[in-house]
Amino acid sequence: MKLHGTMKIYNNELSIGGVSCLKLAKEYKTPLYVIDEELIRQNCREYIENFDAKNGQNKVAYAGKAFLPIYMCKIIEEEGMCLDVVSGGELYTAHKANFPMKNILFHGNNKTFEEIEMGIEFGVGRFVVDNFYELDLIEKICDEKNKTQDIYFRITPGIEAHTHDYIKTGQIDSKFGFALTNGDLERALEKLKEYKRINLVGIHAHIGSQIFDLEPYLDTVDIMLNIAKNIKEQNNIDIKEIDLGGGVGVYYTKEDHPMEVSDFCRSVLKRAEETSKNIGIKLPILIIEPGRSIIANAGSTLYTIGSIKDIKDVRVYVSVDGGMTDNVRPSLYHAGYECSIVNKINDKTSNKVTIAGKCCESGDILITDTGLMNIESGDILITTSTGAYGYSMSSNYNKIPKAAVVSVFNGEDKLICKRQTYDQLLQLEI
Ligand code: LLP
Repeated sequence: MKLHGTMKIYNNELSIGGVSCLKLAKEYKTPLYVIDEELIRQNCREYIENFDAKNGQNKVAYAGKAFLPIYMCKIIEEEGMCLDVVSGGELYTAHKANFPMKNILFHGNNKTFEEIEMGIEFGVGRFVVDNFYELDLIEKICDEKNKTQDIYFRITPGIEAHTHDYIKTGQIDSKFGFALTNGDLERALEKLKEYKRINLVGIHAHIGSQIFDLEPYLDTVDIMLNIAKNIKEQNNIDIKEIDLGGGVGVYYTKEDHPMEVSDFCRSVLKRAEETSKNIGIKLPILIIEPGRSIIANAGSTLYTIGSIKDIKDVRVYVSVDGGMTDNVRPSLYHAGYECSIVNKINDKTSNKVTIAGKCCESGDILITDTGLMNIESGDILITTSTGAYGYSMSSNYNKIPKAAVVSVFNGEDKLICKRQTYDQLLQLEI
């Protein structure tokens, strides 16, 4: 198991942020998400510095969908980041955290009337407008409230990138954004002339998540700059900001080879400078929206091992007290993870086992066929890199309460999200 951030081994025991994982499991019970605040801050700084967002003009907006407790909003604000939200709930969380609304980008392919109204009332900096319906609603609501709103258009740039491959197409088959190839973008630009309350200040594209190649991002930079040039020439609108969507892929297992954030940022900035010079436009402000690469490796999950079922010559199932309710990624995407036992971390024995969750689903398997030291029921298992899209995608399936989240930093631990109680589980029921 790779050690991330501040993970250290003392006396055969794993600690994070200077706090023993065994102690955390005893004190807060399991399953427990542990987040390494130092690593989060380090990741933020790496983006801010390398994307010229510190004293430069560019911006780094954390994608809240990856993990967004109020505490996280505060860290993000302190580190000088903007925030990308995609729902009324995320926006409300930011509001409760007193996050500066002007630094918020409001995403979403089907924002409701109420969400748009809330965004306008709160004064969010930018709406990333996805469709004609939203454009109309923003104009109407702004008119009623006598306000104006800065927006970006979300564009489907014809690049589809997945982890190991990417394709350039005239792709219009996407639920997100205005397509380039079917005239939607031109129609949207044309429609802007009817609107008095909407200022188009930028364009946005997001080509995918958990991407390891640089090339699709550089292509996106070129495409977006050329779109900005066309919009200026054909519609006389200055595109001052270009938002390039999510950040780089991360390490989950040995199969993942992520790029360095610094290389990624520098290459994107260099390409943007070159291309804007080549096509003769002023370099716009650039925005990037990393989620996973800020929080994934900074989060781990502690579980207590319960049943160990050894089916001779078939498989050993090691069941833990959580599963797809706290980490749906393995069952949803066949995502891989690494694990170990926090109190036997130096043990070099390796037995082939499968880590199973406790939900009533055969597919609730966290890790298939991994090597694990000699274990017994009651041992504390850790899965690493669960910080992104773990807690934020967690559910109450099988009426399992949501796990608690504790932040560790400099030898201290702090509970940032309480464990849900059974009574809280039933709170909505009448
Ligand atoms: N910006 C936009 C518009 C996005 O749609 C996303 C992710 C991001 C930024 C952040 O991308 P990141 O830096 O995290 O790669 N649940 C899936 C991931 C879904 C990502 C959706 N959009 C998973 O667990 O892998």
